[in-house]
Amino acid sequence: MDFKLLENTPLYKAFSEVGKRIFLPEGIFYWSGRAKNEAELIGTIGSAFGYEKDFIEDGEDKWVPCYLKEIKKYSNLNVEQIVPYASIGGLPELRKIWKDWIIEKARFNSGEDKKNIDYLTKYITDPLVTAGVTNGIYLVCSLFLNKGEKIICPNKRWGNYDNIIVKNIGAQIESFEFFRNKKINLDGLRKAIQELDRVQDKIVIILNFPNNPTGYVPTKQEALDLINLLQQLQLEIKKPFIILVDDAYEPYIYNFREDILDVSIFYQLQQLEEEIIPIKLDGITKELLFYGGRIGFVTIGLKPIWVQDKYSLSTLKDEINNKLEGFNRSSISNSNHFYQTVAIKLFQDSGKEKIIESRNKVKLLLEKRCKKINQELMKIKSTDISVDPNSGGFFIFVNLNPEKIKASEFADYLLTQHKVGVIPIENPRENINGIRIAYSSINLDQIPEFIERIKKALSNY
Ligand SMILES: Cc1ncc(COP(=O)(O)O)c(C=O)c1O
Repeated sequence: MDFKLLENTPLYKAFSEVGKRIFLPEGIFYWSGRAKNEAELIGTIGSAFGYEKDFIEDGEDKWVPCYLKEIKKYSNLNVEQIVPYASIGGLPELRKIWKDWIIEKARFNSGEDKKNIDYLTKYITDPLVTAGVTNGIYLVCSLFLNKGEKIICPNKRWGNYDNIIVKNIGAQIESFEFFRNKKINLDGLRKAIQELDRVQDKIVIILNFPNNPTGYVPTKQEALDLINLLQQLQLEIKKPFIILVDDAYEPYIYNFREDILDVSIFYQLQQLEEEIIPIKLDGITKELLFYGGRIGFVTIGLKPIWVQDKYSLSTLKDEINNKLEGFNRSSISNSNHFYQTVAIKLFQDSGKEKIIESRNKVKLLLEKRCKKINQELMKIKSTDISVDPNSGGFFIFVNLNPEKIKASEFADYLLTQHKVGVIPIENPRENINGIRIAYSSINLDQIPEFIERIKKALSNY
């Protein structure tokens, strides 16, 4: 495949060697596609097919993918919807459903924001299906980061970023102190961007709101300031800014503060004219409470200036899709067919409103717990702890005074002496020493006792 349009975009400029090299060769797909349309006898498909009656007792005279009759008792879905390989980029129906879902999640007002909806619809790629958000993060980090190159990330981040970026890819994390005075530390982010500008010809940043481990979600003003900063620096630096938006916890934003940004920051970034390219990473795992379903999505924001007309826009999307599918093909090949079908059925049979209604019951549980745990933590009057700003997700983060308390030792003490389990996060080089509490797994009525034990542990420690 030629990448004539893609090669002239800042997206391509920012690609790693893998990103530049990878593509989906025509090979099998070219010949299978042609055979489907042109052949009378097809011998191209690399999975077993047969007449059902020839391998299943009482089977029909129907040409189907061969399957074990025993699997039937675990699902009443049609075997054709679960047994064959799914397409490399994901089932087209699911990709379409998820694109509509992304547009819905922007919550643009259909009247006054019509222009924004049109722009969003037109200038995003069809979501690529990956094996969960983790796999999507690995995919995009591989596409943009060479060994030794840097990506900017707050010091408080999901630990698996380090596994993916540093240990697996061999790239580096340019970390900045996440908060200053209980707000996002934009000065720290500015310095990190300026530092990266000295050493590489692209700026890659990963953001995650609601955040793991802190539960932080920016206020509308903070989000605006963050976007202004990115715009100003991009204009100054004139290099592509790739912003990876990890939206794993997207819907879990709790509105006990009115001024909180209650949609993903992806949507504002996508509307920018500058070479600020957002990439959305989301999935059914947390969003639809379907962790083991392992279905995630990668969606890239495009710029009108990259293309001249709608035909070239469609060609550009094909070129990008080829790269993304090339990566899937060479790593996971394709994603789980069964769970893609279940996701499609969920949207088709229940509909978005029902999905949201059912999920809201869980969201309400989490919101109450979040409020409660904040209230209970506020009752601990100790200068040795502080709680990071939070209003979403599954977690809350309690910083511990590193002069007096070592997080991992305290977590051990909590566990052995007070029978309370938390995750310590300790990284002196990045100024982190604290415990992450997953209130997502503590019932509301246990929260006072949970925090009481922490209080006791702190005073006895
Ligand atoms: C911030 C963040 N991103 C991504 C993921 C991974 O999501 P998935 O289960 O879809 O791979 C997690 C899971 O804990 C997470 O906390």
